[in-house]
Order: sequence, then C-alpha cells, then structure tokens
Amino acid sequence: MHADIERELISQTQIAERIETLAAEIVRDHAAAGEISMVPVLTGGMIFCSDLIRKMPIAMKIGMLAVSSYPGRAVHSHGAVLTDARVGDLNGRHVVIVDDILDTGGTLKLVQSELLERGAAAVRSCVLLRKLRAGVSPMPCDYVGFDIPDEFVVGYGLDYDDYYRNLPSICTLKPAAFARRA
Ligand code: PRP
Repeated sequence: MHADIERELISQTQIAERIETLAAEIVRDHAAAGEISMVPVLTGGMIFCSDLIRKMPIAMKIGMLAVSSYPGRAVHSHGAVLTDARVGDLNGRHVVIVDDILDTGGTLKLVQSELLERGAAAVRSCVLLRKLRAGVSPMPCDYVGFDIPDEFVVGYGLDYDDYYRNLPSICTLKPAAFARRA
C-alpha cells in the first residue's frame, strides 16, 4: 500500500494538531446549546469524526448518514445519493455534519437538507479537507481543516475504489496505482 503513495500532502501530526483546534471551536460554538449531535457522513467521514469527538468534552449523541457520489473507481462526482440514515430523533437538536472532504458540495447540500427536514434546530458542517478549484467559489462550511489543491487524494478516510482509507495521512497516488486497480 505504501509503495502506491506518490506524495504526502498532510501529515498525521498536522491532522492531529488541526483537530484539537477544530474540536475546541465546535465546543465553544455549542456551549449555549449545552449538547450536540455529531453526524459523520459514511464512509469517508468516520475516521475524522472518531478522532474529532474524542477531543470534544460536551454532551453528545452520534448519528450516521451514508452518501455515495464517487462509487468504486470514480474520480468525478456521479451526484450525491443518500444510501442509509441512522440519526435517531433530531427534533430541536444542534447538529454538526462531519465529512472528510468538501469537493463539489453535492454531499453537504444533500445532508444539510436531509437533517433540517428531520427537524434539526441548527445544522453546521465540519470537513477535514476543502478542495479549491480555480474560478469556483466553494460552498460555505463552518469548520474547515485544510484547503487543498484540485488533486485526487486518499488516506484518513478517503479512498480509491474503497482502498487506502486506512492510511494515516493525506496523500496522492502514483499513476501506477490507478492503472493497477483499473
Ligand atoms: C466522498 C467524500 C465526501 C464526498 C465529497 O464520498 O467522502 O462525502 O465524496 O464530494 P462532493 O463534495 O463532491 O459531494 P464518496 O461519495 O466517495 O463516498 P465514501 O465516503 O463512501 O467514499
């Protein structure tokens, strides 16, 4: 697996440090609400969310949504589709969506409207990575770990054909890795 890595963009240490800051900001912003619901977007958001919530000393429930827009070996969005929801009763609750990456924004838009429809009082969003594309304004997001260039990245939840999610840092892949899994 490590032989497939071309370049490391963001290290384990950088991720861990940024998570401390993001967690503190989210807790601070929800102090008045008193408690929170965290909703990771599966599959990619699970690793980030599991590290983030353990830095958040606040009363919390956890729900989960599964959305797919880059099935299998897709590197361009096929459109976000909700495939599973286990969020419990969100009526009147303050919710934070957690995802690994904000790219076209299709996933976040779908999840935000789904949670508001289910009665959430407030919905904020937190992504580890936000991809910046030339000439395109990114969708608003409350908490962003890192802005990255328009490159296909894997690791720390992000996949190619469901592989590489378990890499501990954010990396690009060698062309040979794409070719081998094609
Ligand atoms: C990826 C990623 C985000 C979404 C971002 O999920 O985990 O949820 O795409 O892209 P967008 O901003 O263009 O919508 P994917 O659909 O690949 O599913 P996965 O989490 O199971 O990998």
